[in-house]
Amino acid sequence: MTSHFSTIIIGAGAAGMMCAAHAGGDTLVIDHARAPGEKIRISGGGRCNFTNIHAGPDNFISGNPHFAKSALKRYTQWDFIGLVASHGIAWHEKTLGQLFCDDSSKQIVSLLITEMERAGARLALRTAVDSIEKTESGFRLTLSGDRQGEVTCRNLVIATGGLSIPKMGATRFGYDVARQFGIAVTPTRAGLVPFTFDETAMQDFKPMAGVACDARVTTDRTAFEEAMLFTHRGLSGPAVLQASSYWRDGETIRVTLMPGTDFLGKLRAIRMSNGRRDIAAVIADILPRRLGQYMAGLAGVSGNIADYSDRKLQAIADLLSAWTLKPAGTEGYRTAEVTVGGVSTEALSSQTMMARDVPGLYFIGEVVDVTGWLGGYNFQWAWSSGWAAGTAI
Ligand code: FDA
Repeated sequence: MTSHFSTIIIGAGAAGMMCAAHAGGDTLVIDHARAPGEKIRISGGGRCNFTNIHAGPDNFISGNPHFAKSALKRYTQWDFIGLVASHGIAWHEKTLGQLFCDDSSKQIVSLLITEMERAGARLALRTAVDSIEKTESGFRLTLSGDRQGEVTCRNLVIATGGLSIPKMGATRFGYDVARQFGIAVTPTRAGLVPFTFDETAMQDFKPMAGVACDARVTTDRTAFEEAMLFTHRGLSGPAVLQASSYWRDGETIRVTLMPGTDFLGKLRAIRMSNGRRDIAAVIADILPRRLGQYMAGLAGVSGNIADYSDRKLQAIADLLSAWTLKPAGTEGYRTAEVTVGGVSTEALSSQTMMARDVPGLYFIGEVVDVTGWLGGYNFQWAWSSGWAAGTAI
């Protein structure tokens, strides 16, 4: 027997559950996972960086930078903070406007389940969608798994997220549905992801694994100033993750170590006060030690600092404030926090998230070509876009 629903949402993640909480009517939420909101659960080191007090359209990457404006403006970070507070969940600001649960990210999952239940939505876990067909009045889906058989609906919401962390069940499903209905998908790539380097550079970097340093990381498109971290696999840390979302294969990045530091001034002062000091040791003192030793080697300097002219010291200062590196690639979807690109915003209404040419078909959350910065922005997009579709249905 075929059951009918007013709305079926595929994907019980952040966006799908938020949409279900607002869709009203008879809503079924389908997910192939064993539990809803798994990415929320592991996010923010288990404390979920659920929004950012500075969230605005400028913190997102999209083929159309204006697309996210409407949803972000109508369901803001303050709306979600209000919802969190109404559930008695304590939170704190960590840094740069990033809000985290004091206790556990599971509280955000519980909040969403409670809100979905309040709205009367039902949840079908461990259920796969084998096919989708357009009917005269909506859509017909064939399901397998815990919930089997045919279901029909007037509204179909795709909230299956991006490709990051395939081990957690990320799939191309949303992009395939878009293509099935003639909707363009902009090329996807891993975002908020560490950089990797060729073998020679990796051998050089290995001794620095674990070293962190404030840095400005500049790509051809933008620059981020935050911490940078050397790992056994390459370069990570917030400044690097942020830059990675803007970086394209084959490009170089420019790293300014300890931004705001007057390296030339420091080197000259030490030359004046202690000219017999070894220049490599001086650099190792100015920077985190192992990084300083590496940079001195890269600069090819040794011997008394007194032997270094202003011009030579300037060259060292230039290297430290504009170190050019060429990543071989990124760690890819295996460790990426997000997918950049996705269902083209051209095809969607920015007010409702509905496909312009396929009435009743909606795309929300990370599957859409809207990608937030690191720091709670991606969840805010999930809440805002989920709310926009849910309230429009
Ligand atoms: P989401 O991925 O949450 O949900 C998609 C759902 O669809 C999943 O439940 C999945 O099982 C289901 N699904 C997929 N394919 C399916 C199929 N074929 N059939 C049925 N179901 C299917 N962001 C942030 O703002 N703050 C943070 O602290 C973090 N931290 C973080 C840590 C880590 C390790 C990662 C990987 C990511 C983050 N993020 C983040 C990003 C954030 O998790 C992400 O942007 C949102 O979860 C996206 O919400 P969606 O609902 O769109 O997808």
